[in-house]
Amino acid sequence: MSRRFLFARVVLACCVAVLAPAQPAAAEIDPEADRKAFVRYFHSAFPNVPPDDYINGVYAIDRQSREQWEAIEEFPPYEESVEKGEELYDIPFANGKGYADCFGDGAVRHRYPFYDEAAGEVITLEYDINRCRAANGEKPLKWERGDLVHLSAYMAFVSRGKRLDIKAESEGALAAYERGKRFYYTKRGYLNNSCSTCHVQGAGRRVRTEVLHPALGEITHWPNFRLKWGHIATLHKRISRCHRDQGAKRFQAQHPSYREVEYFMTYMSNGLPVNGPGVRK
Ligand code: HEC
Repeated sequence: MSRRFLFARVVLACCVAVLAPAQPAAAEIDPEADRKAFVRYFHSAFPNVPPDDYINGVYAIDRQSREQWEAIEEFPPYEESVEKGEELYDIPFANGKGYADCFGDGAVRHRYPFYDEAAGEVITLEYDINRCRAANGEKPLKWERGDLVHLSAYMAFVSRGKRLDIKAESEGALAAYERGKRFYYTKRGYLNNSCSTCHVQGAGRRVRTEVLHPALGEITHWPNFRLKWGHIATLHKRISRCHRDQGAKRFQAQHPSYREVEYFMTYMSNGLPVNGPGVRK
């Protein structure tokens, strides 16, 4: 390594250490206090929105497009996906076992993501569907489209009404939560936006033709059929689009950072009922 390069690395390391505060100790990480502050912020920004209505995303605050959306929900375009998911759920694996051996009746959406102590990582529902397959000698499904999304849609559907109930207690879980939180609040790109710039401070404002949804409740209605995309897709596809639009190089779905940010986002909505799958413009 040349001396100049080494010097640059040392200087850089020193400045990064000064700029980025060290990860707080587990005792200082308090997801429940964060969640309460988050909820208070939205309840005071939008005092007319009933607490559970945040599960409807942008339609909780955009009365103009709500009627149109409610009409679409009467014959929702995600119905076919739920039906396919139900069929797939009941097809046994080659070893005779099936998804029910991993997930019972499938109504488990409200307990995801969780921190797996043994694996030392955050496990999302989609990630766990592929873990279940691998444990039974089956090939993994593609992350963003097709069978995995249908299974997730079916499992969300049978979990409707169950309130999100996730935990972050152990040291490992708290550290993963904190990394997810940082991902959410990190400013990126030439516009220097973080996820929170648009979905916390910016909720209700307009970006081009779209009204920005409030971050509270943003994960209850996945997977989501986006009319603009013409198909149903997972939360990670949406996160990766927004991540790229921030001027960052996006990651693959189920990248550890996306699983951790989903963990943080879900914790902020803990206690709200699941209403997936959903449909958006
Ligand atoms: C420059 C603004 C901007 C930034 C920054 C941004 N997004 Fe978005 N995001 C949008 C727009 C526009 C939409 C579509 C309208 C809506 O639902 O808010 C959207 C939609 C979403 C949705 C779908 C909500 C739903 O109910 O369908 C999620 C989830 C989301 N963003 C998460 C994120 C995350 C996580 C980040 C950070 C990695 C992020 N966004 C950064 C503009 C942004």
